[in-house]
Amino acid sequence: SGPTTRALRGRAITFRADPFLDDPAHALVHEDDALILVEGGRISQFGPFEALRHTIPEGTPITRYADSILSAGFVDTHVHYPQLPMIAAYGEQLLEWLERYTFPTEAKFADPSHARAVARRFLRELLRAGTTTAAVYCTVHPQSVEAFFDESARLNTRMVAGKVLMDRNAPDNLRDTAQGGYDESLALIDRWHGRGRQLYAVTPRFAATSTEEQLDLAGSLLRQRDGLFMQTHLAENTAEIEWIRQLFPNRRSYLDVYAHAGLVGPRSVLGHAVHVAEDDFCTCHHTGSALAHCPTSNLFLGSGSFRLFDAVDARRPVRVGLGTDIGAGTSLSQLGSLNEAYKVAQATGRRLHPAQAFWLATAGGARSLYLDDRIGTLAVGMEADLCVLDPKATPLLAQRTETCETIEDLLFVLMMLGDDRAVRATYVAGELVHDRDDPKARG
Ligand code: GUN
Ligand code: ZN
Repeated sequence: SGPTTRALRGRAITFRADPFLDDPAHALVHEDDALILVEGGRISQFGPFEALRHTIPEGTPITRYADSILSAGFVDTHVHYPQLPMIAAYGEQLLEWLERYTFPTEAKFADPSHARAVARRFLRELLRAGTTTAAVYCTVHPQSVEAFFDESARLNTRMVAGKVLMDRNAPDNLRDTAQGGYDESLALIDRWHGRGRQLYAVTPRFAATSTEEQLDLAGSLLRQRDGLFMQTHLAENTAEIEWIRQLFPNRRSYLDVYAHAGLVGPRSVLGHAVHVAEDDFCTCHHTGSALAHCPTSNLFLGSGSFRLFDAVDARRPVRVGLGTDIGAGTSLSQLGSLNEAYKVAQATGRRLHPAQAFWLATAGGARSLYLDDRIGTLAVGMEADLCVLDPKATPLLAQRTETCETIEDLLFVLMMLGDDRAVRATYVAGELVHDRDDPKARG
């Protein structure tokens, strides 16, 4: 069947500005009774229902979401799909955690049928959590990328993903070579980058597992085709940082290792960035690269506190998105990430306003990925990736949101108490792909 024309009616939120740079109350757009008209997979009308009802083509079904909040779908800027089976692995910090749990788990993705099964389960979970776009690490195996894009293309989700590059300091069965990794990546790029809604990210895991030759070739890959992404890890853990210092004694900083290889620029997404200096924030600002704030992961692995408000400082704002970082993260829900992001801000003496929080999870994430002209807000012409949030999803939410008097208050309670149960429905390019109360409805 072709793309459906449909009308959604309900309370809606979106953004007209960046709430870290503008007054959050002004940046947040709130429509009490909105129409979202979807035609050809895009939003063709958005605004007050009564003013726009005449634009609804005759015979178009109208889905009414009473007591719910319509929003752009969530954007997850850093997540590892192959690590879903090892979420909640006990007891280690980053480097030991990688050795003990992560590498053995990722080795299983040599098997394409395993990769396909996990990719399918992962995407299903993302949609259940209201997340419609993610920047995703696969494993070193090209078949893990193939499986992921195949499943994403089937759902028509806009995904950014790539093959992990890793040619040293990893087990035999998880290493590629500098040239082999380059060739495999280029073949995947030509197969998937820009095919439908799929986008490719050159993905050196982190500086410790790539030789300088591999990092340089990753930089060269980025120059081979237009619009490619780059994703890697940066300054997550103090033992990791010390290791990088020893491996790259001639570089000024961890970030400089990547910059030297030509990996830092627009559409580069650096995960974690917990322990970075002012100089690094300046480099990110000037190069247009983004940082992925992964609060549940940073708390789970004891990595440290991301300095969100320093990163977005108006004098040299850095693009920041929100990452669940599964399997080091502990929730696939961006509401869960916001819950912890609020507490991390508190621990650093700062207050994350609910408008800022929901911006990070939607429009800010889209801007970090340079996709804000297509996703992340509700506006005419945007791709119709949506989620529907239910403030009464649980008895506690129902009781607590009863007394919320403002939209800000309601959003705050949702982000503190909500999770996948609070996602009533998810739409991808205008098609219903998740309906909490009708599990058979699938895209
Ligand atoms: N650093 C290098 N690889 C990883 C990974 O898989 N997860 C996290 N959290 N950090 C990393
Ligand atoms: Zn990660």
